[in-house]
Amino acid sequence: KPDMEVPCRPELFDFHGVSMISAFTDNWENVQNFKARPDDILIATYPKAGTTWVSYILDLLYFGNMGLDRQTSIPLYDRVPFLEICVPFLPSGTDLADKLPTTPRLIKTHLPVQFVPKSFWEQQCRIVYVARNAKDNAVSFFHFNRMNLVQPDPGDWSTFLQEFMEGKSEFCLVSVKKQTYSNLHYMFYEDLIEDYRREIDGLCSFLGLSPSAEEKERVRASVTFDSMKQNKMTNCSTVAVMDQKVSPFMRKGKVGDWKNHFTVAQNEQFDEDYKKKMKNPDLKFRFEI
Ligand code: A3P
Repeated sequence: KPDMEVPCRPELFDFHGVSMISAFTDNWENVQNFKARPDDILIATYPKAGTTWVSYILDLLYFGNMGLDRQTSIPLYDRVPFLEICVPFLPSGTDLADKLPTTPRLIKTHLPVQFVPKSFWEQQCRIVYVARNAKDNAVSFFHFNRMNLVQPDPGDWSTFLQEFMEGKSEFCLVSVKKQTYSNLHYMFYEDLIEDYRREIDGLCSFLGLSPSAEEKERVRASVTFDSMKQNKMTNCSTVAVMDQKVSPFMRKGKVGDWKNHFTVAQNEQFDEDYKKKMKNPDLKFRFEI
């Protein structure tokens, strides 16, 4: 590993009612004024809901035939810029997006809907939204914050869970609404695990793509959990601030791992709180499959 100073864990602060760290707010003006193009595709998620998985699926669907170089030498985070990120010594997400040589641009964001730059709506860009049940999402986020040294220190599991429930973790998962914007395709992590082929067919039909059976099979084989865990372009092994010995970026990839973390009491408290906050009847999350 290169010699580098141990990065400092950032503090969370309230940003227009949402918990944020400065890496996501320092480039605010450029993010808000970002000029989306009509064919841009925005991959929008709450962190740890399956962003990398769906980003890679889209990347392969669009650019899988472009030659091996792209697949073996450009990390996924450079192919699919993270719109709001701004950290020292790296290009900001908006700069990366502006310089993307390929069309359509695939752009990822964790911004809650009220912060999504208005040009995405004005240009009626397609949005692929990925959601995951909140219990597994919390567990995944906890381990991610342990291993990613530029994320807030999560503390122990019960501290983290409490803060997550209070909406004090980044981007504040408080409640999620299905938006009525028509150019949005809503996907669940659990559905992708349960029936990958069905979900990809739905995604392709939203995108207006009709890959051949062979192409689809090639994509499928490349995006399995095990392939992505081995793949240096998707497993974040090139990211120095992630300590994969603490917890690998490609960690488990399962539905229901929350059962190995929640105590009975935590689960009861969570369910109680969830009932109060999740009143939207057309959003049904599955905590097991
Ligand atoms: P776990 O921590 O539960 O394993 P994001 O990309 O939004 O950061 O989400 C990360 C989560 O998605 C991690 O969950 C990761 O393992 C899981 N994931 C990534 N690629 C996957 C794949 N191909 N199949 C299943 N899960 C995957």
